[in-house]
Amino acid sequence: MNYRAVLIILMLFATGYAQEINRKWETNENCRACHMDIVDKWEGSRHANSHFNKNDLYKKSLEYIVRNNPKMILDEVKVECSACHNPRISKTKVEDVDKYLLLMDIEENKKQIQQTLNTKNMQNGINCVVCHNVDEIHLDKKKGSQGLFDIQFGEQGTMFGPFDDANSPYHKTVQRSHFVDQDPKLCFACHYGSSNKHGVEVYATGKEYESVGSNEGCLDCHMSKKYQGYASNFVKDKDKPKPRMIREHRFASVDNSNIVLDYIDTTAKVNGEKFVITIANNTPHRFPTGYGLRRVLLDVKYFDSKDKMIKSFNYTLGSQWIDAKGNKTIPALATQMSKDTRVTPHSKADYAFKIPNGATYVVYQFSYRFVDEALAKEMGVSDSFFLNPYVFLTQRVHLK
Ligand code: HEC
Ligand code: HEC
Ligand code: HEC
Ligand code: HEC
Ligand code: HEC
Repeated sequence: MNYRAVLIILMLFATGYAQEINRKWETNENCRACHMDIVDKWEGSRHANSHFNKNDLYKKSLEYIVRNNPKMILDEVKVECSACHNPRISKTKVEDVDKYLLLMDIEENKKQIQQTLNTKNMQNGINCVVCHNVDEIHLDKKKGSQGLFDIQFGEQGTMFGPFDDANSPYHKTVQRSHFVDQDPKLCFACHYGSSNKHGVEVYATGKEYESVGSNEGCLDCHMSKKYQGYASNFVKDKDKPKPRMIREHRFASVDNSNIVLDYIDTTAKVNGEKFVITIANNTPHRFPTGYGLRRVLLDVKYFDSKDKMIKSFNYTLGSQWIDAKGNKTIPALATQMSKDTRVTPHSKADYAFKIPNGATYVVYQFSYRFVDEALAKEMGVSDSFFLNPYVFLTQRVHLK
């Protein structure tokens, strides 16, 4: 067979593309007129930034994986990671044939995959039609979260939600139990846990939650407690919107809320020669949880009576990852988690620091980093959102 014939056969085999999201539902802007508050809150969440075009850390991670993996091509990794980061992707797997075609630089295929990866809907992140078009969830806990592979999406234009009597002029409404109670099932489709290619577990928020037998769900903390409001600001004629028990769509994180101060308690006391800081993690998951390069930094500085700093200590809460050669790497490429100093769910931990001679007071500070500083540098992350520390507590305590 000549080259052209092989090519034509390959092209015939190139795997199909599923249906894309209709224009009517493609972004949160389609919902704004009638769900104004919800749309605004969601925009301030990390879910709105899950596409690589809007997330420097994610983008640089994809590129780093390919740099360290000559066998992989960027588009292939992008499709793979989309299972959770952009689960409405219309192509769920890059087969070997697709890869050959891409490597052969066939313009047609390159264009098609670029279009698939950059639709308006994809760039809109984990948006309204990701969650509210979820009809059924089938999570196999042994496999961990598989994102779109755990989810059965319903007919486009049907919005599944918490109410059995909602009525909308724009879309169908259907109640589903995964919106009604505190069941974390919907969140678990992506946040239960996930392992990398080497079988190393890299996210485990849901597993952590189950390890302490929690039944508190995720919504009270990450959305809000229920309060009386309106599900929609749309009104027909002279009607009034129906008062409903609702929650805020904030998906609270370190950058858009006080969630750390609300659920992590820090106390400190002098105990003989030592200054002891106690962290009480009142969450049903680790502190920090989720993405494996999150860092909580504890800085302790001792000062003398003339306000001169005489000694400082620091401690990091987080997990570390190494490759087969023992070098530090990102979770996606790790063959092992080499260190884990995160606080376990619903527990307290003490951190003791020796008080130096001559110290009259101590200043301690907690801050949060979205990504380990050294690895951010190695990946080439440049967005200050990820590089800046988020200081959530600074305290000064007199020692004498
Ligand atoms: C990560 C998943 C997720 C995303 C994304 C999401 N929602 Fe929701 N939504 C929920 C959950 C969970 C509830 C049920 C909250 C509760 O208990 O009241 C909900 C409830 C609602 C309700 C009913 C009112 C309420 O607060 O209970 C409306 C309306 C709604 N969402 C619209 C939207 C719109 C519009 C968007 C996009 C801007 C959106 N949602 C994005 C998960 C999501
Ligand atoms: C023309 C107005 C309008 C538009 C546009 C609109 N909705 Fe709605 N939606 C409503 C009304 C009205 C309700 C019912 C409110 C009630 O019963 O309290 C509703 C209810 C909902 C519910 C709750 C369903 C249930 O059964 O619990 C969800 C979820 C929802 N909308 C999502 C969306 C999403 C996502 C979009 C954008 C793709 C959208 N809506 C666009 C008017 C609209
Ligand atoms: C379709 C997969 C998916 C579902 C379903 C989902 N999430 Fe997420 N979530 C993600 C991804 C991916 C990110 C990271 C986004 C980013 O930063 O780019 C994220 C980020 C978050 C964050 C912000 C953490 C941070 O990075 O600071 C919170 C909080 C969160 N999710 C809570 C929830 C809750 C609560 C639910 C259930 C109502 C839920 N998520 C459902 C995939 C999902
Ligand atoms: C009692 C309140 C509380 C509950 C319940 C809770 N969380 Fe959290 N969550 C927090 C706090 C506080 C943080 C910030 C500190 C941290 O990273 O642990 C956080 C952080 C996170 C993060 C992001 C960490 C990051 O990378 O910035 C994710 C993802 C998350 N939670 C998911 C969940 C899921 C999924 C559930 C339900 C199974 C849940 N949480 C239940 C309080 C809570
Ligand atoms: C099984 C679902 C799932 C898959 C598959 C997945 N992720 Fe994630 N990813 C998440 C969740 C959930 C979060 C949010 C956790 C948190 O915030 O702590 C996240 C967060 C991240 C973050 C941090 C983003 C931020 O804004 O801080 C990076 C980077 C990341 N993932 C990279 C990747 C890469 C690269 C791949 C593909 C190799 C991938 N992920 C595949 C679920 C997934």
